[in-house]
Amino acid sequence: MIRTVIIRITFFFTLGLIAISCQEEQKKRIPMPSTDLSKASLIPKPLKMVPTNSAFALDQFTAIYTPKSATGFEEVAHFLADKLKAKTALDIPVNGQNSNTIERIIYINQSDSLELDGAEAYQLYINQDSIILNANTAEGAFRGIQTLRQLVPHESNDTLAAQKIWPVPSGKIIDNPNFSYRGSMLDVARHFFSVEDVKKYIDLLSYYKINILHLHLSDDQGWRIEIKSWPRLTEIGGSTEVGGESGGYYTQEDYKEIVRYAAERYMTIIPEIDMPGHTNAASVSYPFLNGNGKTPKLYEGMRVGFSTFDTRKDTVYAFIDDVVREISEMTPGPYFHMGGDESHVTKKNDYIYFVNKVEKIVQKYGKRMIGWDEIANADIDSTSISQWWASEENARKAVEKNMKVILSPAKKAYLDMQYDSLSKLGLHWAAYIPVDTAYQWTPEEYGIPMENILGVEAPLWSETISNIDELEYLAFPRIIGYSELSWSTSENRDWDNYKIRLAEQAPFLDRMNVKYYPSPLIDWKQSRFSYKTIEKD
Ligand code: ACM
Repeated sequence: MIRTVIIRITFFFTLGLIAISCQEEQKKRIPMPSTDLSKASLIPKPLKMVPTNSAFALDQFTAIYTPKSATGFEEVAHFLADKLKAKTALDIPVNGQNSNTIERIIYINQSDSLELDGAEAYQLYINQDSIILNANTAEGAFRGIQTLRQLVPHESNDTLAAQKIWPVPSGKIIDNPNFSYRGSMLDVARHFFSVEDVKKYIDLLSYYKINILHLHLSDDQGWRIEIKSWPRLTEIGGSTEVGGESGGYYTQEDYKEIVRYAAERYMTIIPEIDMPGHTNAASVSYPFLNGNGKTPKLYEGMRVGFSTFDTRKDTVYAFIDDVVREISEMTPGPYFHMGGDESHVTKKNDYIYFVNKVEKIVQKYGKRMIGWDEIANADIDSTSISQWWASEENARKAVEKNMKVILSPAKKAYLDMQYDSLSKLGLHWAAYIPVDTAYQWTPEEYGIPMENILGVEAPLWSETISNIDELEYLAFPRIIGYSELSWSTSENRDWDNYKIRLAEQAPFLDRMNVKYYPSPLIDWKQSRFSYKTIEKD
C-alpha cells in the first residue's frame, strides 16, 4: 500500500521529501484500533463502501496536498483544513513545503478516470498512511471532503499514542449521487432571515451534500430583494412580515454575498419571485400591478390566494422584465423560479397567458424557468421545470409535456409541517410529518418516470417561524433524511439503519449549535436541547 502511495505522490510532485517522510512514517506508524468503515455514520449513505478494518491516524503530522494546476482543488483543500481545524484544533498544512514533520498525507487528486462518472462523483481510498480522494472536478472533491469530515471522529483517541489522534476508518468509498438536484427552499418572505442565518443554513446543508438553495424572495407579506429600477418594492413591500414585525430585505450586495458563499460550497441559489398570485407586497409598492383597480394595504396575515397581477397590461411585463433581468444578472445558476402557485383570483386563460409570457422573459435572460406544479397548465416548453407539491393531475401534465419535475410532495417533504399534534411550530394542512414518515418514501413511487425526475427539494415555509432557532427546529433533523433520499439509491436506504446513523449526528449538530427537534423516534447520541426549549407556549 505504501508503495502505491509513493508512486502516486511522486507522479504529482517532485517532492522526494514526502516520499522520504512516508518511508520514515513506516517506522513511526501508530498502532491503530480496528475501525469498521461499514459502521460509519455517513449521511447520505455512499453508493459503495469496502471496509479494510484498519485506520488512518489523523494527527498533527498530517498534511493535505492537491495538484495546484487543477481548478478549484486547492480551495477545496483549504476548506477541508479549516473544517478539520474547527473539529480537532489541528493545523493541517495545505501544499506546505516543510515536509520534515509530515508522516501522513491526504491527497486530493484530480483524476480523469472513467469510473468517475459525473461532476459530483468521487472515490476515497483510506489507508493507514494516506487518504487519496479522487475526483474529476472540484465539485466532486467538495462532495468527497464532506464524507471525510463525517468520518473523522468527534473525540480524539488519546490512549494509543503520546499525541492526540483521530482514527479514520480505512477502506474504499465509491460515490455518486442518484439525483443531481438535491435542494431545500427557504421562505424569506413570510418572515425575513438575515444573511448570517442563510449562511448558517447553507453550511449545514452542504455538510449533507445538498446542492440547491431555493430562496422564496417575494410573497403577499413581503418583497425581500432590492430591485434598483423599482425601489419601492423593498422600501414599502419589504417593510413588514407575518405578525407585523419589521420585515427586511437583501440589498443586491447581500444577495451577491449569499450567492458567492453558496458557490464556495458548490451550491446553486435559485431565486423565486412568486407571481401572478402571492403578489400583494409588490402591488402595495406599485398599485398599477394589481388587476382589481384597488390600492392594497400591507398584509401581515397568513391567508393565500387573494392577490394577482393584471396579466393583460404591458407595463406589468415591462416591470417583470426589469425584475428578471436584475436578478438574473446576479445569479450565476441556470434557474429562475416564477412561482405560479395558488393564483386563485387569476382567471384560467389569464394565468396561461401570463405564464407563457413570463417563460419567454426568463428565457431571454438566459435562465430555465421553474414554477410550482400549476404551471404545467400553460403552453410552456419542455425545458421549463415543474415543482410538484400537490396536484397529481398537474404532475401528469408536466410529464406529458416532457418537462423535468422536482419532487416536493407537501405530505412528505414540506419542512413546515408539524412533527405531530404536540408541535407548536409549523402547520398541518398537508399532514403531520414525523421523522420516519419524512424519510420513508421514494421519489420513484409517484408514477413520474425516472427520466423526468430532476430531484427532490424540501421547502421550508416560514409563516410560523421567525428566527434561526425555529428554522432549525423544523428543518432538522428532517432535511438530513431528504439529503439521503436524493443522493442515495433506494437499495441503500433503510429506516432502521438510517435512524442509527441519524442518532450519531447529534454531536455535529450540537457543535454547530443547531436547535434540532430531538425526535423521540431517535436514540440520540447526546442532545443538549430539550423538546421544551424551543416550543412556544
Ligand atoms: C405552495 O405550497 N403553495 C407551493
